[in-house]
Amino acid sequence: MDLTHFTFEVDGAGVATVLMDRRDERMNTLGPALFDDMNTILDRLEHDDEIVAVVWGSAKPDNFLAGADIRFFQTLTDAKTAEDAIKATHAMFARIEALHTERGKPVVAAIHGACLGGGNELALTASMRIATDDPKTQLGQPEVKLGVIPAGGGTQRLPDLIGIAAALDLILTGRSLRPHKARKIGLVDEVVPPQVLLDVARTRALEATTAKPDGGSIKSFLSPDHLQQLALEQNPMGRRVLFKKAEERMLAETHGNYPAPQRALEAVKIGVEQGHEAGYAAEARFFGELVVSPESKALRSIFFATQELKKDPGVDGKVEPKEVRKVGILGGGLMGSGIATVSALKAGSTVRIKEIDDAGIDRALAYVHRNVDKLRRRRRVRDFEAERLMHKVTGTTDWSGFENVDLVIEAVFEDLSLKRKLLAEAEGVVPDDAVFASNTSSLPISSIAEGAQRPELVLGMHYFSPVEKMPLLEVIRAERTSDVAVATAVAYGKRQGKTVIVVGDGTGFYTTRILAPYSTEAAFLLEEGASVEAIDRAMVKWGFPVGPMLLMDEVGIDVGAKIAKIMVEAYGERMAGPTMMERLIDADRRGRKNRKGFYRYDDKGERDGVDESVYEVLGLGPRRDIPAAEIQERLSLAMINEAALCLQEGILRSARDGDIGAVMGLGFPPFRGGPFWYVDEVGAAEIVDRLDALAERFGERFAAAQILRDHATSGERFRS
Ligand code: NAI
Repeated sequence: MDLTHFTFEVDGAGVATVLMDRRDERMNTLGPALFDDMNTILDRLEHDDEIVAVVWGSAKPDNFLAGADIRFFQTLTDAKTAEDAIKATHAMFARIEALHTERGKPVVAAIHGACLGGGNELALTASMRIATDDPKTQLGQPEVKLGVIPAGGGTQRLPDLIGIAAALDLILTGRSLRPHKARKIGLVDEVVPPQVLLDVARTRALEATTAKPDGGSIKSFLSPDHLQQLALEQNPMGRRVLFKKAEERMLAETHGNYPAPQRALEAVKIGVEQGHEAGYAAEARFFGELVVSPESKALRSIFFATQELKKDPGVDGKVEPKEVRKVGILGGGLMGSGIATVSALKAGSTVRIKEIDDAGIDRALAYVHRNVDKLRRRRRVRDFEAERLMHKVTGTTDWSGFENVDLVIEAVFEDLSLKRKLLAEAEGVVPDDAVFASNTSSLPISSIAEGAQRPELVLGMHYFSPVEKMPLLEVIRAERTSDVAVATAVAYGKRQGKTVIVVGDGTGFYTTRILAPYSTEAAFLLEEGASVEAIDRAMVKWGFPVGPMLLMDEVGIDVGAKIAKIMVEAYGERMAGPTMMERLIDADRRGRKNRKGFYRYDDKGERDGVDESVYEVLGLGPRRDIPAAEIQERLSLAMINEAALCLQEGILRSARDGDIGAVMGLGFPPFRGGPFWYVDEVGAAEIVDRLDALAERFGERFAAAQILRDHATSGERFRS
């Protein structure tokens, strides 16, 4: 056979091994490019009587099939074309399924590496799934994260295989499963080491040709709970409750902002209630509708921007980043221990932490060990690897072990003289070419580097809390920072698993800076009579994960106040908020950390409604209704306008970086694509009109950035 993207082999026993190997690509993705080959292969599998069973796998070293080719989505300009493309995929997948359901030829999916989206759906067409126990192996349906639904039959075959509840959980959240978890819920039948995957798959395929129907039912090892759930799903009443609950949970998460999960749920329901034919038709129709929706386009823009950033070295010229084998971390507190964790666990470096006393070292090491243990319990690392990871991180109270570090990341208290002092001391110990990064959240890098011997090696690496979870790293380039230092920090941040943007050294850099006017505006609204709940509810409805008042509690009201002051000093009165906020500090209301903030906290630190006494502390009278739309408009535009100023002043290298920074660092609603994508969607002229109207009411703080006016005039977009 003449194949471009597959290899094909039949052994002496009649087992055909079909391996996907998309030409010139590192990853296998599903798109029309593969269809010619698949047709050829299926013709042969269907009609060659020598072939008794099929193993369907991948020739790539670390992926089975990672999903649909997203670039192909971009070519689907109207819903009808998209719907037709899906129908073609359905037909192809139906042929694979018919090999075992109609022709009696068992099909075993041999899964190693990413088996996601269309990949998982392909695996679902097989009669059996075997996955490797490798940490790279993951199965799931992440489509909703791109604003679409599983449309290769996933909304129909997945509930059939693992039950409605388990299928909805995967489809509506988009989360993926590791092999052992996938086996537990019945998504895969067997888990084996990678070395024997194809052999075991061939053996099982051959065994299945003679096995009694349903002989090796996967149900035999499902948990009693899961079986009970499946029984519940057999009756219409049980199903009704289940769908209702799933919908409620989904709406509580999405606030109705994301149409994809809603449609996915409907497609599953249609399939269950009206049969698969109706289900597949709904799947295709919904996919067509969603793939051209603004939400999906915005989500895909974030996906593409993230992909681009993976390749972006962070500097314009071509420089080789310095190799980082060992990292020194100054301060093992909240941030330092998180940075140590990702440096050892993700980047695989040796880590030396410097703390002020043994108790500090113990706390930091305990933090790293807890994280390693989590990995071990989830079987993401084996016992001996866990031991090895723990030994990678050590602590000291002096500078021992810093003489051979390649990179220092400083995360001590936010205190300029302390940071300068540590930089000076470090320069006396570390190699001459070691890069020094500060994790400061507000101090200009240039002032930390003021007395430095090698200021060209000093920059900022601004992480977000909790470091293991938050995806963004903001690298701050000061005026004297060299390209090599920037490229080194960027490359290292990527190894730590971060999406990295490089920004200029203005006060607050990018993320802290655009958060400032947003938080300040929330304080003004509070002063004008809006309630804490009303403000938070409005912004959560707009799409932020938490509202600004709760965020202040989380970050620390004292920390926020300190930063607010620094911002006013740097940018003047337009950044100033209402003075009443100082009363919170006088009353020692610091937020969650001392269980006294805008919200009430119980002894365990659990949040429990708004603390009404906060209005009295602030000297504020009774609350009045301010419409959610006004709250949303004022807060969102305050942030967006500041982002535009950052681009105008060269703090940002691109609008793309601004969108990624806001979405990944601050939780700007992903379905709006980020501040710049949002301006493009609404239109710069409209945004300027709204800002002008706000400036008329509230003054200079809403004065539109010139760059917005320019785009309003020219009609040019920020993002292509
Ligand atoms: P933290 O108070 O939890 O940790 C600071 C640690 O530094 C403490 O464990 C302290 O013992 C240690 N330390 C102080 N002086 C030292 C010295 N001379 N040598 C070695 N260790 C010393 O503070 P956190 O929250 O980790 O913040 C650290 C830095 O990260 C600050 O600059 C902060 O502004 C910045 N940052 C904080 C974020 C947050 O969400 N907490 C987010 C981004 C940046």
